[in-house]
Amino acid sequence: MAAIRILVGSVYGGALLTARKVGEELEANGHQVRVLEDPQLQDITDNNDALLVCTSTTGQGEVPPNLLPFYIDLRDQLPQQPGRPFGIIVLGDSSYGDTFCGAGALMEEALYETCARKVGESLKIDALETLEPEAEAVIWAKNWINRI
Ligand SMILES: Cc1cc2nc3c(=O)[nH]c(=O)nc-3n(C[C@H](O)[C@H](O)[C@H](O)COP(=O)(O)O)c2cc1C
Repeated sequence: MAAIRILVGSVYGGALLTARKVGEELEANGHQVRVLEDPQLQDITDNNDALLVCTSTTGQGEVPPNLLPFYIDLRDQLPQQPGRPFGIIVLGDSSYGDTFCGAGALMEEALYETCARKVGESLKIDALETLEPEAEAVIWAKNWINRI
C-alpha cells in the first residue's frame, strides 16, 4: 500500500473533480491519499509520499493560479527529491495547439529538476475528446499505482 499526495491545479473544477475521484478510487483500494487543493511546497517537503499531479492548463499553456505558488516555489527552491515517484495527469484542449497540456509539461520539468522519478507516461486528457476526464484518469491511476 502506498501513500500518495495529489497536487491539484484547476480553474473551473474539472481537474479538481478528477483528482477527487482518483483519490477516492485509490483509497478504496487501500492506499493513503491526500488531495491538496491549494498545494504549498511544504506539503511535499515534510514527507516522502508519492506525488500525483492532476492539473488543467490555462492561459497559454500555463499552470492554474491555485497551483502557481507551488510551481514557483518548486522552481525557485528545487528541493532535491532523488528517486521520489511522481505521475502527471493533465487536462487540456487540443484546439490550443502548441500549448496543449502545457501545464503538465511545466510541472514535469520542475519535478525532474528535483531528481524525482517519473512513473508512467503523462496522461493527457483532451477536452475535445473526453467529456468525463475522471473516468479516463481513474483507469490510468490504477495502472500507475501498481508501478510506483
Ligand atoms: C482561458 C483558458 C485558457 C486555456 N488554455 C489552454 C492551453 O493553453 N492549453 C490547453 O491544453 N488547454 C487550455 N485550456 C483548456 C482547459 O485546460 C480545459 O478546458 C480543462 O479541461 C479545464 O479544466 P479545469 O475545469 O480544471 O480548469 C484553456 C481553457 C481556458 C478557459
